[in-house]
Amino acid sequence: MTLAPAEADRITGDLTALAEYADPGLPGWSRRALGEPYRESRPWVERLMREAGLEVSRDAAGNLRGRLPGRRPGAGALVTGSHTDSVVGGGRFDGVVGVLGAIEAVRVLRESGVRLEHDLVVVDFYGEETNDYGFGCLGSRAATEGLEAELLDRVDDDGVPLHARLTAHDIDPAGLLAPAWRPGEVAAFVELHVEQGPQLAEQGVPVGVVTAVTGIERLVATFHGRRDHAGTRAMTDRRDAMVAAARAVLAIQRVGCEAPVHGVATTTHLDNPNPSPNVVAAEVTMASELRSVDEVWLSGARRQIAEQVVAEAQAGGVDVELDWTTDNAVVRTDEVVQGAVSAVLDEAGVPWVAMPSGATHDAVHVARVAPAGMIFIPSRNGGVSHSPDELSDPADIALGVDTLAATLRRLDREVGR
Ligand code: GLV
Ligand code: MN
Ligand code: MN
Repeated sequence: MTLAPAEADRITGDLTALAEYADPGLPGWSRRALGEPYRESRPWVERLMREAGLEVSRDAAGNLRGRLPGRRPGAGALVTGSHTDSVVGGGRFDGVVGVLGAIEAVRVLRESGVRLEHDLVVVDFYGEETNDYGFGCLGSRAATEGLEAELLDRVDDDGVPLHARLTAHDIDPAGLLAPAWRPGEVAAFVELHVEQGPQLAEQGVPVGVVTAVTGIERLVATFHGRRDHAGTRAMTDRRDAMVAAARAVLAIQRVGCEAPVHGVATTTHLDNPNPSPNVVAAEVTMASELRSVDEVWLSGARRQIAEQVVAEAQAGGVDVELDWTTDNAVVRTDEVVQGAVSAVLDEAGVPWVAMPSGATHDAVHVARVAPAGMIFIPSRNGGVSHSPDELSDPADIALGVDTLAATLRRLDREVGR
């Protein structure tokens, strides 16, 4: 039996309605986790889930869960979903397509008269984007692994600890320390997402089957130079922390440009806490990240950057401390899930490509507890993302939902039986 097609107009209506929940004081569609527009949007998402026939609850990690009971309760759930928070100045599609698309997939299955064996759970994960406390995927991390207690005590630029912000947003911080989801609760996970890059559109292929999700290494470097009068100190006798940081930015870019595999290296932040125009910078902090699905490149790039940054800083009389953290390791998606998506596409005669993801996703964390995979649809407008100019076509989204619904039905037959 073929499934009823997803309705592009219905999805567009939902996307437009959710886009109303955005901070009017910020550019684009800004709906940050722990912010007001996001808080106000959650009951709207709950209502949409309920109207689609789902039983809605919030787990201890703040994730919204909509359950469609299957014939065999206790068999583990098929889970799908993504996130509805955005970066500051974000667009309308990143994450949102995976949540509203999952709700549309539920409508498609119900309208087609399909009753799955497994429970089907749609999740809107709390706070996927990197927050003011320096980490992302808050809800999916907490649900599957539990958060490290140290994260809850971190403070933002206003000096407010994360635990206080969570409490103000009706999330009990203590509930995040242990995994909110029971072992075995998830039989398989599929996340529908926009590509956030140009490849699918450039290749004229409507669907990507994700093979792996990038690992991320983050660096915070602190450069210690010497405070000096900018008018009197000779250029040859300076220990300028800003110059050392600038050289580090270029060293990091060079390592990214020289990657023989897909590897990227980006610096996004330089800070001089005392930025007087007439004072040579004494201390500068820099935040950078490396991404690749190749672990060997990641560790080699990390070593190369450390050596070059330290050597160049020291040559300028500047000391540097490097603080590396692995935000997430490379994750390969599950072959059964990949196989289900590609079989669905082959059967429907839809062209697809296998591709890695350079963005990170909630699927990375769910992959720790269950077979997990991802479906990408094209990002139009040159593949721009984390930008108000982010764009996806309604027809592409509808095809993504059709693929998701059929994949869930296929996984229902293939997993946990
Ligand atoms: C999230 O979008 C990320 O890739 O950092
Ligand atoms: Mn996303
Ligand atoms: Mn994002």
